[in-house]
Amino acid sequence: MDHFLYRNGILHAEDVAIPEIAASVGTPFYVYSAATLTRHYRLFTEALSPMPHLVCFAIKSLSNIAVLKLLGDLGAGMDVVSGGEYLRAKAAGVPGERIVFSGVGKTREEMALALTGGIRQFNLESEPEMRVLSEVAVSLGVVAPVTVRVNPDVDAKTHAKIATGKSENKFGIPIARAREVYAEIARLPGLKAVGIDVHIGSQLTELAPFEAAFAKVRELTGLLRADGHDIQRLDLGGGLGIPYTRSNEAPPLPTDYGAMIQRTLGDLGCEIEIEPGRLISGNAGLMVSGVVYVKNGEGRDFLILDAAMNDLVRPSMYDAHHDIIPVTEPPAGSPTQPFDVVGPVCETGDTFAKARELPLVGAGDLVAFRSAGAYGAVMACEYNTRPLIPEVLVQGDHFAVIRRRPTFDEILARDTIPEWL
Ligand code: LLP
Repeated sequence: MDHFLYRNGILHAEDVAIPEIAASVGTPFYVYSAATLTRHYRLFTEALSPMPHLVCFAIKSLSNIAVLKLLGDLGAGMDVVSGGEYLRAKAAGVPGERIVFSGVGKTREEMALALTGGIRQFNLESEPEMRVLSEVAVSLGVVAPVTVRVNPDVDAKTHAKIATGKSENKFGIPIARAREVYAEIARLPGLKAVGIDVHIGSQLTELAPFEAAFAKVRELTGLLRADGHDIQRLDLGGGLGIPYTRSNEAPPLPTDYGAMIQRTLGDLGCEIEIEPGRLISGNAGLMVSGVVYVKNGEGRDFLILDAAMNDLVRPSMYDAHHDIIPVTEPPAGSPTQPFDVVGPVCETGDTFAKARELPLVGAGDLVAFRSAGAYGAVMACEYNTRPLIPEVLVQGDHFAVIRRRPTFDEILARDTIPEWL
């Protein structure tokens, strides 16, 4: 459920009419609903309530500081994968004790930043990384709390570009090597193992792959404890999928996911950490775009929008489907026709949808892409020197621009011409 509904024939974000925002900030833009973000976060905390837990929002999915503050104030932890994301979490007021640091390529600088500013744990992804972290911690006179991300070699049954838990993926340490790796951690002066981490992929639409991975983590917990390691936390990663279409998809609900975790791991006495991104932010955001032209092509009509692949790359990159709806609700029974929905960027790949059956919209009308809150704004770039589009947060009947559109002067001023040219 989300809070983007038609009222009196006009699409609203909570109590704010989308055309009102468009008139104020111009198109295209992203708009997020505070009520939806809150609701989705709470679904997880409620689902895990029988166990000690921390829900760490994967901020790679939506990293605007205002959104992080909203979730952080509700008690959320944050999963970060770079020094930049760490600084965003801190800028949002999230204490280091609630920040976990994931990622395969953490640099010494990033490690030092987090060790100095405070960190709940590093999720280690390789043995070289583990040795470097120990050195950095020793040089700062501290001990780094760590988990090892184990690769359980399960098939997440999702898009190949976002599956991470098979042995051929670059992520984690093969689970069969885990005991050796924890033994080395125990010998390294700068590290203290506090738990185990696993993340098998994103947009999973079944619980079975999670359960298979968690069963392996359960077994490993017993082995590591028998080896004398103090395994107190299990970080189970993110990955629960969302419905991208209104009709046919029904991914598992957070309550079912929570019940499965309880069943699989609940008796181990561990604190459960999870790192959901998409399920919290995905359906909490729309991208709103204006129609620039309707172009009659050969055998097809193109809806040319002012948004493009640089603003929302998921359709070009993963062939992802986003529902596209008109901001003015068509009267029941209105005719529809197939459109190729495209942006202005000079690439054929700048296509949001092919032969999409849509009501008859025309130049100047507004359309909204649903489920655009996750991996939307964060993956945008300025290709074709198109400014990053603004982000707006709605709460009840008010809205605020939480990232404004840069001016062309600001964009041009970032380049410098060397004096010798
Ligand atoms: N934890 C780790 C270690 C991750 O790598 C990810 C996502 C998450 C948590 C959050 O997963 P989520 O709950 O959002 O599924 N750009 C792609 C998705 C890439 C996901 C990368 N890792 C997309 O647009 O579909």
